[in-house]
Amino acid sequence: MQWVGAIDWDRRLFDALIPLPRGTSYNSYLVRGSERTALIDGVDATMSDVLIDNLAAAGIEKLDYIVSQHAEQDHSGAIKKLVELYPQAKVLASGKCLELLTKFDLVRKERMQEVKDKERISLGNKTLEFISAPWVHWPDTILTYLPEDRILFTCDFLGSHLATSDLYALDEALVYESAKRYYAEIMMPFRQNILRHLERIKGLSIDIIAPSHGPLHRRPEFILNAYGDWASDGVKNEVVLPYVSMHGSTRVMADYLTEALMARGIAVKRFDLTDYDVGELAEALVDAATVVIGSPTILAGAHPQALFAAILANALRPKTRFASLIGSYGWAGRMAEQITAALPNLKVRLLDPVLAKGYPRDEDLRALDRLAEEILAKHRELGMA
Ligand code: FEO
Repeated sequence: MQWVGAIDWDRRLFDALIPLPRGTSYNSYLVRGSERTALIDGVDATMSDVLIDNLAAAGIEKLDYIVSQHAEQDHSGAIKKLVELYPQAKVLASGKCLELLTKFDLVRKERMQEVKDKERISLGNKTLEFISAPWVHWPDTILTYLPEDRILFTCDFLGSHLATSDLYALDEALVYESAKRYYAEIMMPFRQNILRHLERIKGLSIDIIAPSHGPLHRRPEFILNAYGDWASDGVKNEVVLPYVSMHGSTRVMADYLTEALMARGIAVKRFDLTDYDVGELAEALVDAATVVIGSPTILAGAHPQALFAAILANALRPKTRFASLIGSYGWAGRMAEQITAALPNLKVRLLDPVLAKGYPRDEDLRALDRLAEEILAKHRELGMA
């Protein structure tokens, strides 16, 4: 196997939503058998020429197969040029992926060949074995196993947005952080599918895990154990506290609740929603037991930044067990109702919100103490704290 992908050092945003503080890579792999040659995944269309140059430098004049493990354009964008450049190459993919590649106008039907779960394609002395793995994170994904070299190609699954000159994960602390953030942003809503796929690949002999973003893993157990932990039902003695404040009332409440939780031995991950990193908030949601959203009332409703945080948490479906709200209002409003209504996907027990009329008074601070005490009790029920 030879890496022929592209490192996108300067990319700073994905999906026009997710910050990429450390860039990313689009990994593309060349597998040469004694009779045929395959390329596994392409790269983003913006870096097609890098991949094409790498293939030329590797002396590749003919490709027999281009395996498209997943149709999202950061892996399939370059395939449009590749099928022109390598007219003999067949594009191998799941049925769903082929359908999407057609819809994205990347490959014509006559160049495609569907592969099924467990199907094998021989390259001569090497074999590609395909494993259907839908919903990590699209319905089309397949993994590719190369048994002779004990390499599992996993596309987005087990990957990380990390531009680095290290082909393999050498700095595991850095890769852990990047992979957890990536899991939070992309994979977390599909926790149950992830657990199923992890179970399924347990039976394979794997020396190398080769995702299509970030470094490869020579210690497969490092990333497999991390995913097993993140996707498990286990939560940590932590409260995620995203809040926004206009005139200081909600901030005073956030400060007070933070202290009250810390005094009870509960870790707090705070995010001022006027200046934060969406990826860091997503990552904090991976294993926190409780989320408390703080919002003032504006135009009779929740602050849009607080609503955005609620919508994001709802979309990411963290395994959080408890949720609550804190905030303030001047005369009336539907702030609490709007935020609660934005969280239908979360399987949480809602704890009574603490809402102050105007600047928080003693009775509001006492209510925050009671909220902190209730959170402590709930965490203890789960065996934490
Ligand atoms: Fe890296 Fe879902 O694309």
